[in-house]
Amino acid sequence: MLIKRPRSWEIPEAEATPEAVFLNRRELVAGGLAAMAATVIAPPVTAQNADPTLDLYPAKRNAAYALDRPLTEERFAADYNNFYEFGSSKSVAVAARALKTRPWTVKIEGLVEKPFEIGVDDLIRRMSLEERLYRLRCVEAWAMAVPWTGFPMRALLDLAKPLSSARYVRFETFLDRSIAPGQRQIWYPWPYVEGLTIAEAANELAFLATGIYGKPLANQFGAPLRVVVPWKYGFKSAKSIVKIAFTEQRPKSFWEELQPAEYGFWANVNPAVPHPRWSQAEERILGTNEKRPTVIYNGYGDDVASLYKGLENERLFV
Ligand code: MTE
Repeated sequence: MLIKRPRSWEIPEAEATPEAVFLNRRELVAGGLAAMAATVIAPPVTAQNADPTLDLYPAKRNAAYALDRPLTEERFAADYNNFYEFGSSKSVAVAARALKTRPWTVKIEGLVEKPFEIGVDDLIRRMSLEERLYRLRCVEAWAMAVPWTGFPMRALLDLAKPLSSARYVRFETFLDRSIAPGQRQIWYPWPYVEGLTIAEAANELAFLATGIYGKPLANQFGAPLRVVVPWKYGFKSAKSIVKIAFTEQRPKSFWEELQPAEYGFWANVNPAVPHPRWSQAEERILGTNEKRPTVIYNGYGDDVASLYKGLENERLFV
């Protein structure tokens, strides 16, 4: 996200070999005909289809969250990700398989009635999963529209029981340098951290995703649990969460820590406020490369603009 100059070896995404084709080729080379037969007959056992919550998918779609545009095809969304823990290219799907997503524990701590830890399967089964179609707008000016499965963040607040002194909620991603090569790059302020105000977290659009495209999240999307806040730039939606802390102080997020002149706390989408190095007026749709005008609050203003009354002097849009 910091330096976006394409390098000579980078190819346009439309020319990239889809991951499945690439893997099949590798298997063919390595194992000859037997491997080919296995590839054709049996689907590979991946973390996704061995997921202990697989029986909960697909979840019922909540029709209240509809789109103004077609869904992005899964093959495009799954092969163009930001997950700096696994490298700064968009092709992190293969590297992200090194993340072991079970067992997985989420810590709830800070200003809550009683801090606790919960296994992610236990957490998911306590919640009522639903599917929502949301747009996602990256600060880099690409966008997609995807079907997330998960539960409202409000339900997590109900479970965590924050004290009245809590003003913010801070989300923290896993930290494991042994499997995440990006985390060995010490100039980044690992672990990845993001934050919301309690009012933002309680807004009905704020969501915790456990799945996408009717299945548990593939690792590159931030398995097994990620934040989704569709009115803000995508970097607010932290992946692979291990800790949720309630605080009085505003959390300093990963990108804000690294580059405060370019990335702020609020990070609401706004076409009229350019990034210091590029315009935010338009967005490029993943897969089709169609250009669309950016919409304030990514089109969700009716639901969220009221959250920012009285905060007009803050940097609400960077
Ligand atoms: N979370 C972590 N832990 N690490 C990251 O690098 N990138 C963010 C966000 N969450 C990121 C992250 C950015 S910049 C974007 S645009 C979205 O994830 C991308 O989500 P996607 O890859 O599922 O499309």
